[in-house]
Amino acid sequence: MKQDIGAHFGARTQSHAKNNSFSPTTDSTTTVRIESTGGSWPDLTLDQLPTAIDGWRTTRSRVHAETGVADHAVIDALAQHGFVLDPVALAQRTEPAAPVILTRDFSTTATACEWLPRIPPHGIDADGIVLTHPHPDDLDVLLACEQDPGARLHAVAEPLDREALVGLLGSAYFQWRAGPASFLIARASPAGPPLAKLSVRRVVPPGVLDVGYVTVPAHRGKGVSTRAVRGFTRWAFTAASIQRIELGVKPANRLSAAVAERSAYHCESVRKGRLSNLDGSYSDELSYVALRHEWAHDCDRNSGGDGRSAQQPQRQ
Ligand SMILES: CC(C)(COP(=O)(O)OP(=O)(O)OC[C@H]1O[C@@H](n2cnc3c(N)ncnc32)[C@H](O)[C@@H]1OP(=O)(O)O)[C@@H](O)C(=O)NCCC(=O)NCCS
Repeated sequence: MKQDIGAHFGARTQSHAKNNSFSPTTDSTTTVRIESTGGSWPDLTLDQLPTAIDGWRTTRSRVHAETGVADHAVIDALAQHGFVLDPVALAQRTEPAAPVILTRDFSTTATACEWLPRIPPHGIDADGIVLTHPHPDDLDVLLACEQDPGARLHAVAEPLDREALVGLLGSAYFQWRAGPASFLIARASPAGPPLAKLSVRRVVPPGVLDVGYVTVPAHRGKGVSTRAVRGFTRWAFTAASIQRIELGVKPANRLSAAVAERSAYHCESVRKGRLSNLDGSYSDELSYVALRHEWAHDCDRNSGGDGRSAQQPQRQ
């Protein structure tokens, strides 16, 4: 049966005869390439996946599934069937457009993982800009942001290097769907260059998120991060069943606190000595929060109050 599946879908069986306590029968590792539509590249197309999965269940296989980093439909389907990112393959990525590799061992039970819902195909509308998933060619701009002295000033960790960013870009969509942390890119249009990065992390209680942001230096002071935070918050409270979003700022980072306040987040508390500084010391954290049941009202009031409509186009 295993041979039949391999022959039918052109899968590559990599190792054989591996017994363990979960898998008393002979186990094997199969690598398949999957695309959402047909073509010369894939071993499998998305519509063939359910049949292949039935076969892998029967043979108790371990399967590595390779797919394109932007093939979100395939990543969704694999996540639904309990495939997870392969950390070794991820660490070995050298190119931003290298395939994503998701793995499942069919000899053990796996649950479908789902964290955040899909965003609209052209991104989340954010008052004249859009928030989309990252593209592989965002790499150079994101790398420059990591090294920017303005971003280093209040950073809590060392900057990510090229390799780490390649891994982050390659895993961003899977992480968005399965958690626990991912990011979106703010752009003037869905295919435009990055204006800002909005990080989104899962906080332990269900329905709670934490966000962070950095604006590309050339685009600062034009309302980019404010609109990104507002747009994301509006989407999260209306499309994603999120109850509470947190945002932590060092007191010295006045520009960031201004973004939080313009985005209608309230400073709820000061958490003492919570945020690390690059010199080894710790800063307090101003803990800002937006709540689902009151944010939209506060946001409308804020937009009116500072004379900037939430729909105002980006100033260049
Ligand atoms: C802090 C940081 C993210 C701010 O980003 P930004 O995109 O420049 O911020 P915004 O433009 O949204 O808001 C700041 C200014 O834009 C102005 N602005 C211009 N057009 C605007 C619009 N259409 N809507 C809202 N604000 C607008 C605001 O008035 C505000 O100015 P003010 O504070 O002088 O009154 C940016 O400086 C940065 O990347 N810093 C380094 C990383 C960092 O510290 N991140 C935060 C970690 S907690």
